[in-house]
Amino acid sequence: MPHIAIISASVRVGRVSHRVALYFKNYISENALATVEILDLKEFNFPVFDERLNHQKNPIPAAIDFSEKIKKADGVIIVTPEYNGGYPGSLKNAIDLLYPEWHRKPIAISTVSDGVFGGTQVLTSLSFCLFKIKAWLVPAMCPMPKAQELFDEQGIPADKQTLERRVVPFIKELFWCVEAKQKMEKHDG
Ligand SMILES: Cc1cc2nc3c(=O)[nH]c(=O)nc-3n(C[C@H](O)[C@H](O)[C@H](O)COP(=O)(O)O)c2cc1C
Repeated sequence: MPHIAIISASVRVGRVSHRVALYFKNYISENALATVEILDLKEFNFPVFDERLNHQKNPIPAAIDFSEKIKKADGVIIVTPEYNGGYPGSLKNAIDLLYPEWHRKPIAISTVSDGVFGGTQVLTSLSFCLFKIKAWLVPAMCPMPKAQELFDEQGIPADKQTLERRVVPFIKELFWCVEAKQKMEKHDG
């Protein structure tokens, strides 16, 4: 069974996008698609970036743990809010910390906002950053507009069926990439 890591990017007090991360975790485990864990950037609480992990002399345990968890994951979902048209500093801080760990990693992005556009403006800057760092961007969107109305604090959706019309193709695309990568790795030996 593959393993999926969900990066919950908002560290804001009273954050809403974490509900989306909880929803994806429940969805993946309830449908027995993979083993799954949330990498909560609020819990990791990384200091502001001062060097990449593989260049650090005395890395903090949280950074090593984050690296191990990204390495172990067959696929990643990034759940990110939109802040002023971009993604939060907490996320850039965590992406820049690693480098080889991202190589060819299938990464799907779900953007979140409290307004009607679902945070989609984040996609331009975040996809380019992931491209630069050599990740494999899953070509599917899953915007979550008015997220505060879509989920309760435990990530339980108000309207499961309507939501799944958006979520099913997104998750399907992620798992296609995960499987394709596993096949290539087997093929390459
Ligand atoms: C600093 C800041 C900037 C924001 N900028 C935007 C924005 O550009 N577009 C948008 O749709 N929502 C914006 N929002 C609202 C977020 O979409 C909202 O907080 C939502 O709940 C997701 O963020 P959260 O997970 O931190 O709660 C902004 C919120 C903050 C705190």
